[in-house]
Amino acid sequence: MALVTSTEMFKKAYEGGYAIGAFNVNNMEIVQGITEAAKEVNAPLILQVSSGARKYANHTYLMKLVEAAIIETGLPICLHLDHGDTFELCKSCIDGGFTSVMIDGSHHSFADNIKLTKQVVEYAHAHGVTVEGELGRLAGVEDAVNVSAEDSSYTRPDEVEEFVSKTGVDSLAIAIGTSHGAFKFKGEPKLRFDILEEVSRRLPGYPIVLHGASSVIPELVEKINKYGGNMPGARGVPEEMLRQAARSSVCKINIDSDLRLAMTATVREYFVQHPEHFDPRQYLAPARAAIKDLVKNKIINVLGCDGKA
Ligand code: G3H
Ligand code: 13P
Ligand code: ZN
Repeated sequence: MALVTSTEMFKKAYEGGYAIGAFNVNNMEIVQGITEAAKEVNAPLILQVSSGARKYANHTYLMKLVEAAIIETGLPICLHLDHGDTFELCKSCIDGGFTSVMIDGSHHSFADNIKLTKQVVEYAHAHGVTVEGELGRLAGVEDAVNVSAEDSSYTRPDEVEEFVSKTGVDSLAIAIGTSHGAFKFKGEPKLRFDILEEVSRRLPGYPIVLHGASSVIPELVEKINKYGGNMPGARGVPEEMLRQAARSSVCKINIDSDLRLAMTATVREYFVQHPEHFDPRQYLAPARAAIKDLVKNKIINVLGCDGKA
């Protein structure tokens, strides 16, 4: 099995009413934890790399880790650039073997977003690579206090048909109230499923992407705080909302913060319980196992893509 694009995965996910997990990778233990979990439950996978991850670990190291994971698991894996912000970055990932890229033009005007996304799509498609675009800006935590400011960052459904037809983009990330990181909601979690429904009505059969979809699992936050961390008020997207999204046109659900929490909680606990240990393998092995457990649970209980590889 070689690296695959997102095309076939999204087609099956849309028809089957489930979503593919797109997990961010930064090092070997994270790649191993995620891919071992997916192998055990026979799930298709998207591994995604941010520009920060690429700076941290180096393109070639990440590429080779993912190639190793394919050899070890035999799974279809799509290697995706997360939040590419320039044509040059997308081109570099395409030239370097990624099978999918995101061009995030959401901070540009509608016209400039279309222009940039179209430029990436033309290059990517000529090289057999799929492209994710974004319309609407994901709310930051600070935006949630002001309803009209918050409203202005939601995706406008009346823009999606023009964006997709003019750019030729293969999937679309939309903003319905999620945000990146561990502090997503000040009060009760609320997602604008009405926007998702209207977008889906306007784009029948078209795959939608949900960013900022970590649940910020309360037990992990509790463990971090118990073992010397300080994350009061951390809060994520309830699993039931993610299940609802996965059953709809949402074919890709992005998860990074939960992986970070699982690793950090495990390492913090380990150091408190074993203050005399100093071999990195001793604390990274349980951290990798925690990632594996978390991903298996997401695949089976939230995404519904187990058995679909
Ligand atoms: O959407 C952002 C992802 O969680 C990646 O985060 O840019 O810190 O690697 P990063
Ligand atoms: P979380 O911060 O909720 O994990 O979102 C990750 C993401 O959207 C990566 O693009
Ligand atoms: Zn994101």
